[in-house]
Amino acid sequence: MTDLAGETASACRVCGGEVAEFLDLGRQPLSDRFVEPGELADEFSYRLAVGQCASCTMVQLVEEVPRQLMFHEDYPYHSSGSSVMREHFTEIARDFLRTEAADPFIVEIGCNDGIMLKTVKDAGVRHLGFEPSAGVAEVARAEGVNVRTDFFEEATAAAVRAAEGPADVIYAANTLCHIPYLDSIFRGVDALLAPHGVFVFEDPYLGDVVTKTAFDQIYDEHFFLFSVGSVQAMALRFGFELVDVRRLPVHGGEVRYTLARAGAREPSAAVARLLADEREQRLTDRATLRAFASNVITIKDELVTLLSGLRAEGRRVVGYGATAKSATVTNFCGIGPALVPFMCDTTPAKQNRLTPGRHIPVRPPAAFADPYPDYALLFAWNHAEEIMAKEQAFRQAGGRWILYVPDVHVV
Ligand code: SAM
Ligand code: TMP
Ligand code: ZN
Repeated sequence: MTDLAGETASACRVCGGEVAEFLDLGRQPLSDRFVEPGELADEFSYRLAVGQCASCTMVQLVEEVPRQLMFHEDYPYHSSGSSVMREHFTEIARDFLRTEAADPFIVEIGCNDGIMLKTVKDAGVRHLGFEPSAGVAEVARAEGVNVRTDFFEEATAAAVRAAEGPADVIYAANTLCHIPYLDSIFRGVDALLAPHGVFVFEDPYLGDVVTKTAFDQIYDEHFFLFSVGSVQAMALRFGFELVDVRRLPVHGGEVRYTLARAGAREPSAAVARLLADEREQRLTDRATLRAFASNVITIKDELVTLLSGLRAEGRRVVGYGATAKSATVTNFCGIGPALVPFMCDTTPAKQNRLTPGRHIPVRPPAAFADPYPDYALLFAWNHAEEIMAKEQAFRQAGGRWILYVPDVHVV
């Protein structure tokens, strides 16, 4: 891999404080860059290390990958690949449609293939999705969703405010934590949001990552790991207030944060409750984060021992779900085709390519049953319920699932 170092961030991207590193996951490729077989080009690599701001407690990557390397025409992640997620986004869209605004305008940052905005469009409500990855933006457009193929930031948000007026809701799912330049985002939200509007975002929760040792939530695109405390401080810094929080079961555990302009809405009791939980858990204490880092090493050792043992016994192991998360696991643990000969995945843009860094072939789901392996290593563990429900025949045929969250175990 060619060493093209990204920008090293020693200063906190929210407040400028000092970021102290607590976990180094080594050099990593782009997590969503699936390689064509025979492709000779060197892969980009960067150092995947995580630190915490000593001042505002925000957990963040130490090195930043330039955004155009991650979000582009060929960005392979299609949000609509999961039926559970389709339902999840229909529900939040319905919540937004219950607004009292007369002619509401709903804006989404990172609308991907239109999974959420499609419901808004079907209701005939004014909307706009910002989506810089042109391939998925085109899928949303084909569904009739209004999309601007652009990064949301101060200038693009201000342009929309000038052309279309204020937004009642600005929403971002699994996108805000991808954006290091949050100062520009907040200036954009300030320019675009109506006086009583809400800025709602949901992202993987530091609390779940730590309690489940879900270290695969750490990769190039996941620049921040939010907690209620760090988001509250961030909101205040940019002239907003955290007025509601809600834990979500999706993607391995997330929190949905609702922000309003400072003083515009009364914060709910849930904010104080979750903040108290974080304090009691000592979630952002240095000792907690160090213990998490040490649990990560245990998982790596146990997973490699298990896979090596199975290989020695002549067992077949297939990877299930070529997630971006799996790039962290395979590259950090040194898991290549010798231990996992292939992965299966429903995403056409990933199929018949090789995984980033370790070059494990990705095949369509039909390859999974042809014939069933002895073990399936579930990289898409956040979709476990949905996947295990549809793969019951694998279990009935004697197959076993290997999971590494919250620890290495076989079911
Ligand atoms: N919201 C969808 C979901 O939850 O499934 C998509 C999440 S996907 C992990 C992140 C998306 O954010 C990508 O489609 C990416 O292109 C987009 N993105 C990244 N930076 C962005 C920005 N500054 N403005 C708008 N979208 C952005
Ligand atoms: P995610 O964890 O980032 O949502 O990625 C899930 C990946 O797993 C994505 O590439 C699609 C794939 N997948 C399957 O192959 N089968 C499934 O049933 C589901 C839900 C996802
Ligand atoms: Zn900070």
